[in-house]
Amino acid sequence: EKIKICICGGGNGAHVMAGLAAAHARTEVQVLTLYQDEAVVWTEKMKQGDLIIARNNPDRTVEEIKAKPAVITKDAGQATQNADVIIFCVPAFAHKQYFEAIAPYVKENMSIIGLPGQPGFEFQCLDILKDKARSCTILDYESLPWACRLAEFGRKVDLLATKDSLIGSLISGKSQPKHDPVELLQLIFGEHPILIKGNNYLETVLMVKGFAHPALMYGHWMNWDGKPVEEKPLFYQGLTEFAASVLWDVSQEIVNTAKAISKARPEVTMENVEHFESWIIRNYRHTIQDPTNLYTAMKTNTAYGGLVHPMQEISPGKYIPDFHHRYLEEDVPYGLAVTKGVAQIVGVATPCTDKVITWAQGHLGKEFLVGSELKGKEFKDTRAPQAFGLNTLDDLLSLM
Ligand code: NAI
Repeated sequence: EKIKICICGGGNGAHVMAGLAAAHARTEVQVLTLYQDEAVVWTEKMKQGDLIIARNNPDRTVEEIKAKPAVITKDAGQATQNADVIIFCVPAFAHKQYFEAIAPYVKENMSIIGLPGQPGFEFQCLDILKDKARSCTILDYESLPWACRLAEFGRKVDLLATKDSLIGSLISGKSQPKHDPVELLQLIFGEHPILIKGNNYLETVLMVKGFAHPALMYGHWMNWDGKPVEEKPLFYQGLTEFAASVLWDVSQEIVNTAKAISKARPEVTMENVEHFESWIIRNYRHTIQDPTNLYTAMKTNTAYGGLVHPMQEISPGKYIPDFHHRYLEEDVPYGLAVTKGVAQIVGVATPCTDKVITWAQGHLGKEFLVGSELKGKEFKDTRAPQAFGLNTLDDLLSLM
């Protein structure tokens, strides 16, 4: 009998995950997508033919993987029916809605996987699923296994690149899962990414690299005069030394936070939390032309070539920055605000992170931070630990 997998989401990553799992002989896919009429449209599209994943391989060949999810629905009961595994593959701003939808159907032995979880995934999972979550296995991966973009909703997705490896954390529940969730994922992914077990969930929280987006947007737009620009600026190749220094400082504050945790509790290993500079130089060694430092590495990384700032075209050839893009809407409340919250708990000062959050929250129309403290009117909309009543290091460690 096939292992049933529920996949939450309807975007780039959900299409790849659904396609790969549906293509595997051992697994059957039930997609849950709550957004607008995505479930209806995707179901209609599946009547026209298979879902196609165009996988770009390192040898420059493109392979087409074709498969059909068994079910695509907005009904959480149907999507989770007989499922052993629930995979979140959707931006973090949508997670709450999915946790609430699946809550009545979550059973012991289930594995709940954030692919990626993004910072605060565990806090929200426990907050909404309560005791039920304690009988499940909760996995949280540092990123999506692939760079991917939809070519045609419901029909075709371009799998542009596959990561070599991916680190994830695991919180064991009171009940054993029927199938080892890591083995199952590896079976579906194939050789890459190689799934590596991280040390603990706090490490994963501090490993997520999404903070680069708000840091670089702040670096570029903090002094913007509000006038439209004639072209979309290059996000990485157009980097200024100032923007690179902001990213460097934010990353250092996160590394400092990891060190403070291990200093307070030597048994809590945080060795996978690495500075962005060494991380990018190591991970993109084949595509970076000048690895002298963070600035040169980012600017000369051909893998980042052509990527532009998120912009809105307000009239032909006139652009303004899109401050409601995932780069801020996701990576501030479900990214920087969470690492800030952890830093606050272990008493690490984060002046640069604070500057970026303060600037970004203005554009998001929210108040998370007041001065250097997470006590703004809307801080409960973030996934900072404090928003879930977790205020001490012991509180954070009690989840492990
Ligand atoms: P996406 O941008 O394709 O997600 C869009 C989907 O999210 C929509 O199809 C819809 O199902 C849902 N959605 C959008 N707005 C919504 C709303 N207001 N309410 C409820 N649902 C809504 O996301 P993607 O690319 O699949 O990324 C998934 C996760 O992986 C994100 O956390 C992202 O940061 C991360 N990631 C993505 C990469 C990529 O290459 N696509 C690379 C690395 C990480």
